[in-house]
Amino acid sequence: MNRTVVNIVIDLVASLLFLGMIATGYLLRFPLPPGSNKTLTLWGLSRHQWGDIHFWNSLGLLTVLIIHLALHWNWIVSVIGKRCHLIKSSQPSLVLSAIWTLGIITALCLSFVWVAQRDVQEKPRAICTNNPSDTQRHDSAIAEPSTAETKLLIWDDVYPIFVTNCLDCHGPQKHYAGFRVDHLDDFFKNDGNSSLVLPGQSSQSPLIAIISGERTNMAMAESHKLAASDVTRIKTWIDQGAK
Ligand code: HEC
Repeated sequence: MNRTVVNIVIDLVASLLFLGMIATGYLLRFPLPPGSNKTLTLWGLSRHQWGDIHFWNSLGLLTVLIIHLALHWNWIVSVIGKRCHLIKSSQPSLVLSAIWTLGIITALCLSFVWVAQRDVQEKPRAICTNNPSDTQRHDSAIAEPSTAETKLLIWDDVYPIFVTNCLDCHGPQKHYAGFRVDHLDDFFKNDGNSSLVLPGQSSQSPLIAIISGERTNMAMAESHKLAASDVTRIKTWIDQGAK
């Protein structure tokens, strides 16, 4: 291959890689925006996988650009080197200038990598209040973690847990055992046995035995077990008086 053909091939590859950068950059900004990694895919790949392609694409472009510069090194040294008075002799050493340039660029890259690695910090952890609309409280919870725990929980704070986990079997469609989670009264009904919720006494409340998995002598006991954090939340609600 003669020199001109090589130059054309290199420039063609560089243009394709450049278009690839723009295309993947566009995908990461618009169709798959930040935060969509868990929920969206495009042509079978998630946001993180497209991000990887974007990264390797950019490294490829960098490599091709370096090859391009190397092919034109003679011209660069004679035009830029002489015009900026960096090279004095009329027969400049191409190898020496290349080593110097590579050395300086490598040092710059390595110091960037080092500074970036050194300055990575962990974000202060947000306390989850299960209440995304209430960003105000989120902020104060970071400064003062105890406010999240001492806050008075009301029915509206625990009702979403029942909707997510129980409504299918204890709601408008099915109401197994005659119990509906969308009827607040059903939690306090006293039909001979004790009611499900005894305000102020979470450890005595039958509801807690059911949702913590303690009670096994019932149908579909497994469907009644909730995550520990949800159980804690409901316990807190009961102990605070089940308002
Ligand atoms: C997959 C369906 C299903 C889901 C989900 C479910 N239950 Fe049940 N539940 C049942 C069935 C069936 C019974 C009837 C058990 C029986 O009669 O022995 C029952 C019975 C009950 C009872 C009556 C217990 C008793 O003493 O007889 C309560 C209270 C109850 N469920 C609460 C809940 C709560 C709270 C949730 C959500 C955390 C929930 N259930 C989720 C199916 C379900």
